[in-house]
Amino acid sequence: MKILVTGGCGYIGSHTVVELLDENYEVVIVDNLCNSKKDVVDKIKTITGKDVKFYEEDVCDKKALQKIFKENKIDAVIHFAGLKAVGESVAEPLRYYRNNLDSTLTLLEIMAEHKCYKIVFSSSATVYGAPKSLPIKEDFPLHTTNPYGSTKLMIEQILKDLYIADSNWSIAILRYFNPIGAHASGLIGENPNGIPNNLMPYIIKVATKELPYLNVFGNNYDTKDGTGVRDYIHVVDLAKGHLKAIDKVIKDKGVDCYNLGTGKGYSVLEIVKTFEKVNNIKIDYKITEARPGDIAACYADPTYAKDKLNWEATLDIKKMCEDSYNYAKKQK
Ligand code: NAD
Ligand code: UD1
Repeated sequence: MKILVTGGCGYIGSHTVVELLDENYEVVIVDNLCNSKKDVVDKIKTITGKDVKFYEEDVCDKKALQKIFKENKIDAVIHFAGLKAVGESVAEPLRYYRNNLDSTLTLLEIMAEHKCYKIVFSSSATVYGAPKSLPIKEDFPLHTTNPYGSTKLMIEQILKDLYIADSNWSIAILRYFNPIGAHASGLIGENPNGIPNNLMPYIIKVATKELPYLNVFGNNYDTKDGTGVRDYIHVVDLAKGHLKAIDKVIKDKGVDCYNLGTGKGYSVLEIVKTFEKVNNIKIDYKITEARPGDIAACYADPTYAKDKLNWEATLDIKKMCEDSYNYAKKQK
């Protein structure tokens, strides 16, 4: 079985490629390296001892995709390629709409031409906006507050419309909660450029002394300790969810959405304390203003993914903090 992984050099994509190779899938990666590095391909080979075909191409490039589909008999696609920074999407909406929508439309057109109708798509819990209650179920109302989130919601709609038009399609839409952690080897992980926006990459920069302290965005939320609560999920658990989604699209036609989260919420201060404890390091922090647009709490009801995909997260918050730091130390 040959899987095309778009964005396979990125954070979640690279971990998923490792899991696919470990399960003896053949993998073809297409990535334009706009937010990743080519050496990830070698690291994947080192971890798995297996070969992986890599094309440095833009998924918006129809000719390049044609070539990939002609040279490889692709059975299914996992589509990670996309831009993902919320703040940047507010500043540069056209770049976000162009890249995320164009890449998806081009990919779907070429897939249909080659009669490849099986796709797993990376969506996000951001499509729930401020949820009406917790935990969040897949049938909750959808609402977005920034262009990045809107690209995800639009693509979800495109995929649903596609299945209505042609019932040959098998589509799994995965709504990720907050992926953190890294592969236990410490060879692959998340390495954002510049000052990070997200919590764990920021904590890492404080741990490695590249930044002096963490800004904790608000402590007046209606949560256990007043700081924001999220459903952090180990990236390896998340990667394994994609293999279950591949099983599903290979077996059944249709289109469906699945929350990939642990179902547990941790506050910012709980994450800081756990990180300090498991890594035996002090993380200085200051309480600052709440970040505009942030919600108090967000965590999944992951029951549907368990029932329909036979998947559930197994790695705990300690392992997430340990593996995140292990990867960061190996980059030094
Ligand atoms: P990432 O930036 O590490 O990986 C995305 C990869 O796609 C990068 O390697 C980038 O170079 C590539 N890419 C982007 N546009 C491309 C294009 N037009 N053609 C070819 N390659 C292209 O991001 P990630 O964290 O691994 O996220 C993967 C997917 O999951 C994204 O679609 C993202 O929106 C989604 N997602 C991520 C999170 C998260 O917190 N990391 C949460 C929810 C959803
Ligand atoms: C972010 C994205 C969201 C995406 C999600 C999944 C933003 C605004 N939103 O959301 O679209 O779906 O990741 O990965 O980027 N925090 C601090 N200090 C920091 C950074 C974060 O206190 O320096 C707090 C936040 O207020 C929040 C928690 O940590 O309570 C998690 O923040 P973050 O990692 O940015 O994730 P989300 O806000 O959930």
